[in-house]
Amino acid sequence: MLVINSPLEMRAYSLKARQEGKRIGLVPTMGALHAGHLSLMDYARPQCDLLAASIFVNPLQFDREDDLAGYPRTFERDLELCEAHGVDLVFAPNPENMYPEGFQTSVSVGEMTKGLCGAGRDGHFQGVTTVVMKLFNTVLCDLAVFGEKDYQQLRVIQRMVRDLDMLVEVVGRPTVREEDGLALSSRNKHLSPEERDKALCLSRALKKARSLADAGETSRSRLVAEAEEIIRGTDGAKMEYVEIVDSQSLAPMQKITKPARMCLAVWLGDTRLIDNAPLN
Ligand code: PAJ
Repeated sequence: MLVINSPLEMRAYSLKARQEGKRIGLVPTMGALHAGHLSLMDYARPQCDLLAASIFVNPLQFDREDDLAGYPRTFERDLELCEAHGVDLVFAPNPENMYPEGFQTSVSVGEMTKGLCGAGRDGHFQGVTTVVMKLFNTVLCDLAVFGEKDYQQLRVIQRMVRDLDMLVEVVGRPTVREEDGLALSSRNKHLSPEERDKALCLSRALKKARSLADAGETSRSRLVAEAEEIIRGTDGAKMEYVEIVDSQSLAPMQKITKPARMCLAVWLGDTRLIDNAPLN
């Protein structure tokens, strides 16, 4: 497995692979890999000739210094996991070569980034779309795979690709969970054992809303209230938002009349967790 740090070298390598007719797949990550990330690699592997994964903790998308500084970094282990999951090449740039002096351009998607996670995290999605655009332009991928765990991020990137006529197929894959329902996340490492238990309120809230929707409930306020009750009833859990949105446009919905997604963000101590589920 090859590890490339320089964006210029990366693009030269990819250009050559493309000239040889290879189909390039990319799984973008910030490292601290877990089974969720690995499921994306396993999905992409048979669909491309060259499978690349990127590992880059992108400073542009963090709104808090402490969150960036404390983000888990397990690079050597990440490389082993990539290799074990069929990755041919890891692109691991550093902030200095991604954002050299003078850097001042960004990509921002409109309306879709204003709600949900965009409301409480200033500049976050602009940081994500800017880095993803740079990763796509550097790795020259034909296919890029993202997790539904970050549902708004997935839809925002798909919107960017459509709006800017980019030649990348962006595929979303289901959230990988622990056996008890907790969505895998690099940030779960920050949870104390008690917080880990309480973190189940996210998946329990989604499950409750799903079962009500399955039984025919279509009212946003009723579904949101039921989910909120579970979170409010969890000592120490602080709700940031519970929303129901159109699963394509992410526009808020009052009545569930077409495919919808319940999305939520909850704090446990200093750790912010997100999760989502379809409501049909
Ligand atoms: P990161 O949080 O490392 O996640 C990388 C990819 O793994 C994302 O597409 C995310 O949705 C997916 N993922 C995370 N947890 C998952 C789970 N439990 N099941 C399935 N997929 C999961 O998301 C980012 O990095 C960054 O914003 C990035 C896109 C790399 C841009 O910097």
